[in-house]
Amino acid sequence: MIVGIDLGTSNSLVAFINREGKAEIIINERGSRLTPSVVYFKNEQEVMVGELARSQLILKADRTISSIKRQMGTNYQVEIGERGYTPPEISGLILRKLLQYAQEYLEQEITAAVVTVPAYFNDNQRQATLLAGEMAGIKILKLLNEPTAAALAYGVNREKKENILVLDIGGGTFDITLMEYQDEVCQVLCIGGSSQLGGLDFDKQLVKHILETFKMSNGIDLSADPIALQQIHINAEKAKVDLSSVNECSVLVPYITMGTQGPVHLNQTLRREEFNHICSYLFKEISELIEQTFTRAGVSKEWVEAVVLAGGASRMPGFKDLVKQLFPGVELRVEINPDEVVALGAALEGGMLSGELSHIETHDVTGHTLGVEDNQGEFVSLIPANTPYPISESRLFTTVNDFQEEVIIHILQQDELGDAGEGINVSLGKFHLENIQKAKAGEPSIDVTFTIDENGILNVSALDIETGTQKEIQITETGYVDGNKIPARRGRDLIIL
Ligand SMILES: Nc1ncnc2c1ncn2[C@@H]1O[C@H](COP(=O)(O)OP(=O)(O)OP(=O)(O)O)[C@@H](O)[C@H]1O
Ligand SMILES: [Mg+2]
Repeated sequence: MIVGIDLGTSNSLVAFINREGKAEIIINERGSRLTPSVVYFKNEQEVMVGELARSQLILKADRTISSIKRQMGTNYQVEIGERGYTPPEISGLILRKLLQYAQEYLEQEITAAVVTVPAYFNDNQRQATLLAGEMAGIKILKLLNEPTAAALAYGVNREKKENILVLDIGGGTFDITLMEYQDEVCQVLCIGGSSQLGGLDFDKQLVKHILETFKMSNGIDLSADPIALQQIHINAEKAKVDLSSVNECSVLVPYITMGTQGPVHLNQTLRREEFNHICSYLFKEISELIEQTFTRAGVSKEWVEAVVLAGGASRMPGFKDLVKQLFPGVELRVEINPDEVVALGAALEGGMLSGELSHIETHDVTGHTLGVEDNQGEFVSLIPANTPYPISESRLFTTVNDFQEEVIIHILQQDELGDAGEGINVSLGKFHLENIQKAKAGEPSIDVTFTIDENGILNVSALDIETGTQKEIQITETGYVDGNKIPARRGRDLIIL
């Protein structure tokens, strides 16, 4: 059995293919379909994951970790007591819990899974996710892009080709995917979005507003009070969710602080229009990201025949209105619960990999332009963004100085930013190719090959054609040494910075 896992910023889910050949969400020990992606370290030995951990967010904030997905692929570490934990370690604990639910429910050992990632996740973030799987003791057979999983869950139109736009806005990420879907093939044309924009940002904006309103009416600043802040945060999210179904709601936290006259309560009323106004810059950002993706894809918005919505934050009426405004008259697909659609798609992919279901080919594209830095410090592209993968591309380079014995290959990712489309370069790593042919500058031929595998993972190799000297690396930002649990930077031994 290969299960499908949606490892989300806010919530994670695990699904499988049932006897009828349908994807089904596995219920956790509390009878819920969603498990909060929250980890609480009660002590060195006892770790809680899910709802139990979430309930510790207020009182045990220093030992409780949420939204770790936003830190995947970075060198960030969470300090708990004496020890630092890497994002893959924390995500590994969440994965392990989901596997436990699956094993109990299915009464069998589970050793393999399809795990979803935002389409916009870069190499470091994907590597970190694979590492999380390793730490949970599971083989991740495929890293499936979340929007592609959502499209799979909606099935294939066998009669005619359909042009689909998937908008997936969860707790922490916003993915935009344009795809053509026909027969047994789902071809992604272009992706865009941000791995730093989601429901959480709406919560933060609302928290800011609540704090300002409270300060204005009570003259008390709660921003330095961590317990009050956590309570406001939880209530702000609740208010945001309420405002998706009602026009007005209240944010109520009794005894939030002590004033000169005794206890003070927080009691505010919020209207939907007010919420939309407070978060207008976020809606604007969403709209700009969509426009940018269409510009990059080189297609007009009329190209879209159906919009698939995924992610809990897509329930916000302001989000739906924006989509209707951008794509007037286009069919909105919302029949499948947006919280579950990605996990269901992941289970379907698992079923296809195990041979239980007939195969639907999915062709994804890269989210970022990848290349190397030349001697002038300029970016040289090897694989442009939106290239279908798996793919392998090579380019020849040469030396700058006479009798140079080594070259340094600096691997870069270029991200487009702003209206002018100016690029910003992110370093993915550097490595040395030594013992190259000793020759005059410009004579050696060094072949640099970038390969992106079916999981979107980059492998780089460099070959001195004359001497046959070769070096190959997989870029790994975060690593882990098992046993003594010292966070390490595996893979970096090959990269000299
Ligand atoms: N009815 C609703 N109205 C508005 N927002 C909602 C609603 N239901 C859930 N959300 C928000 O959706 C977000 C969680 O969505 P989801 O579970 O799809 O995210 P995730 O998969 O954990 O995150 P990501 O996909 O970004 O990694 C939270 O910010 C939550 O507040
Ligand atoms: Mg999600």
